[in-house]
Amino acid sequence: MKHLLSTQDLGDTEFEGILELAARFKRGESSSALLGKAVGLLFFNPSLRTRVSMDLAVSQLGGTPVTLDVGAGVWDMEYRDGAVMDGDKAEHVREGAAVLGRYVQALGVRSFPKMKNLEEDLADPVIAGFARHAGIPVLNLESMRDHPCQALADALTLREKLGPTRGRKLLLTWAYHPKPLPMAVPTAVVHVATRLGMDVTLAHPEGFGLPVAVMAAASANAKRSGGSLHVTSDATEGFRGADVVYAKSWGGIEWYGDWENEKRARADHRDWLVTEEKMARGAGARFMHCLPVRRNVVVADSVLDGPRSIVLDQAENRLHAQKAILEFLLATR
Ligand code: CP
Repeated sequence: MKHLLSTQDLGDTEFEGILELAARFKRGESSSALLGKAVGLLFFNPSLRTRVSMDLAVSQLGGTPVTLDVGAGVWDMEYRDGAVMDGDKAEHVREGAAVLGRYVQALGVRSFPKMKNLEEDLADPVIAGFARHAGIPVLNLESMRDHPCQALADALTLREKLGPTRGRKLLLTWAYHPKPLPMAVPTAVVHVATRLGMDVTLAHPEGFGLPVAVMAAASANAKRSGGSLHVTSDATEGFRGADVVYAKSWGGIEWYGDWENEKRARADHRDWLVTEEKMARGAGARFMHCLPVRRNVVVADSVLDGPRSIVLDQAENRLHAQKAILEFLLATR
């Protein structure tokens, strides 16, 4: 059974094959690889880009998308094994996944971490439950573990904009946000940028590091690809000479599940906003963000609306990358 839960699941041939096919789709190549097939798209959390681009990707390959919002027209689902289901959840992932597996040929699932218990969130229980019980390929549409669709679209975008990526400098900078957000996107970015051989600087205030396993995987990627990974708590250092500035906010691992204390800690870090002045230190740096983004909290209007911003290219490339992913998942069944 082939699932795609993280880009770390992909061998180099698979990774390169998906990117090459995505580029062909972008150039206008067509495919009916999903003719006669249905793909379930199950959302435990809101989405604009993932939802629309997945729906279109399935349709453009000749398939039928079945898009469902858990808890809104579809039974809310329990995921804990052994749970006594006397609360508001009417269906267990064990049956929900297995039933969907009898109707559709692949399943995309978005399920954000609960942001209360780090150990439980790191186990990614909802996505893991679907992968275990659906009996069909499962595609992660963003969970604690990764956001592989974003990562592959970003890899496509980086290659389009930079050409060869090896040795090019990418700054992934934490940004202030009024809420603690999941770590899926920063995880996806460090996984993929180190894999592309880039010199990656990860900048975040003290207490906002990424999980140990993510950093270990990124370091191993960098070693294999000839790239590098450097961590700093200096808000401006990484801008110097950067080819790419990728901004994202995420929750503080040091206060995980303790929002009141994290809120106090992050109040001091509003100056992590990406401004024109900081961008000017780069080597004509492109600005990237996965979207949605909070204007003038994460990034200044002038940067987001300026000529160096490539956020819309990233969003467009979600469609091309996901068509390639779907063909990869279903062609190998
Ligand atoms: N970048 C991204 O995944 O966007 P959505 O949350 O709108 O799907």
